[in-house]
Amino acid sequence: PIVRISDDALALACGADAVAAAFAAQGCTVHRVSSRGMHWLEPLAEIDGQGFGPLGPDDVSAVLAGTSPKAVGPVAAHPFLARQQRLIFARAGITRPLDLDDYAATGGWAGLEQARALGPAATLAAVTASGLRGRGGAGFPAGIKWQTVADAPGATKYIVCNADEGDSGTFADRMVMEGDPFLLLEGMAIAAQAVGAGQGYIYVRSEYPHAIRKLRAAVELAAPRLAPFAVEVRVGAGAYVCGEETSLLNSLEGKRGEVRAKPPLPALAGLFGRPTVVNNVLTLASVPWILAHGAEAYQAIGFGRSRGTMPIQLAGNIRHGGLFEVGFGITLGELVHDIGGGTASGRPVKAVQVGGPLGAYHPPADFHLPFDYESFAAADGLIGHAGLVVFDDSADMRAQARFAMAFCAAESCGKCTPCRIGSTRGVELLDRLGAADRQPRAPDAVEALPQMRNAAKAPRGSAAEIALLEDLCETMKFGSLCALGGFTPYPVLSALKHWPEEFGA
Ligand code: NAI
Ligand code: SF4
Repeated sequence: PIVRISDDALALACGADAVAAAFAAQGCTVHRVSSRGMHWLEPLAEIDGQGFGPLGPDDVSAVLAGTSPKAVGPVAAHPFLARQQRLIFARAGITRPLDLDDYAATGGWAGLEQARALGPAATLAAVTASGLRGRGGAGFPAGIKWQTVADAPGATKYIVCNADEGDSGTFADRMVMEGDPFLLLEGMAIAAQAVGAGQGYIYVRSEYPHAIRKLRAAVELAAPRLAPFAVEVRVGAGAYVCGEETSLLNSLEGKRGEVRAKPPLPALAGLFGRPTVVNNVLTLASVPWILAHGAEAYQAIGFGRSRGTMPIQLAGNIRHGGLFEVGFGITLGELVHDIGGGTASGRPVKAVQVGGPLGAYHPPADFHLPFDYESFAAADGLIGHAGLVVFDDSADMRAQARFAMAFCAAESCGKCTPCRIGSTRGVELLDRLGAADRQPRAPDAVEALPQMRNAAKAPRGSAAEIALLEDLCETMKFGSLCALGGFTPYPVLSALKHWPEEFGA
């Protein structure tokens, strides 16, 4: 029989190669496909639509004999998949990532052909009418960004795909790049055609070696289809801040990955000073479907001003982790309990961090929130790149708040004071709030600040010390040049707001 096993990085990490070899040794033909996104079942083998997982090489004989206790039934009908609406991930687990025939046979290139038939203006109009918003986190309307680039003067324009997926608990970009790389290239070619760009770059993080290899191979295979548009894959060097678009552009230009002030917007003066579309992987990967099926069909899915689907990534302490693509509007509680099955530890859920390391911690009281940009913003949070990290009741929220400040201190590009210095002062403050007994400290340079001097003298958990933390967060939020310093207060303030007793309040 034909046995289908993923060659996605997560499946490989779970031992998929050994399982594939064991099936091959039994005389089976093995197809290495993309991942279905049901991570707790990897390595998952699929034979005639029936699933088996998670498998080890020793399970193979029982699978082939029809006696395996690891049978999970028909894969496509599994409740985790049946509840999804997969537009970006329509091919997940179905096609071989680098097989052009598989891609074409499942609707590949239909969007690009449609865009070429429509011409740039009508393509732009379709993307605008679809309501597609940037999936990197900010949710800026893609059509308006593209229009700005199309209208900008100059003959040289660029498409830059931001594939520096750095948020904790996120892996959707990686799954697109490893599982359906032609889809991303098709989206980039449509964007290029719409704005008049001849060259595209994919800026991918060095921590994604499998994605890098597959993208490079896909670029070579698809080059005749994409021509005259050309794409190059560029590898980052491991800085979180290089996911910020202007820092990314500096890095692409061979400079230090330091944030640039905006304006000028990259849409007007981006890569090498030229008009540039910078879009996240998921934004570009949404576009072929919109062109192939029409803006109206896309616009019909979603919630409020958030249109279309979002590939939500369930991670952390969760029973059924994986990729869940669905129209906006599903509630946080449904995602964590109904779909994710609660915590993997079996203990009560304490908090869910939504939107990466700079996202807020939400308590179960927030589980009614519909998943969309505006609802989360109104609840002092953000959906970001739609990564959910679940924590059980053993989580130490002061330690989590400290982690946010420490992360910011480690990843800060150093350009602005609130982030560069504020994050280090934040770590110190949170350490003081957590110190069991407060010994007088040796004076340092910071002691020169009257506020800090007062805070250092205050008793543990005093209102003054917490007020100082809030004041620091306020300064970082409104005084930082980019989202790294500006959003670090979200995890800190949400932890303080919902679990004040853990800060000694
Ligand atoms: P932003 O709101 O400044 O900009 C959003 C995008 O719209 C940018 O590309 C900007 O150039 C463009 N834009 C704004 N006004 C425009 C105009 N008038 N015409 C054309 N284009 C325009 O947000 P920013 O700083 O780019 O991103 C912040 C987000 O990044 C946060 O929401 C955060 O969730 C997310 N983030 C995502 C990460 C990931 O791994 N995906 C990591 C860290 C943060
Ligand atoms: Fe750099 Fe931090 Fe300022 Fe952003 S907020 S520009 S990362 S120092």
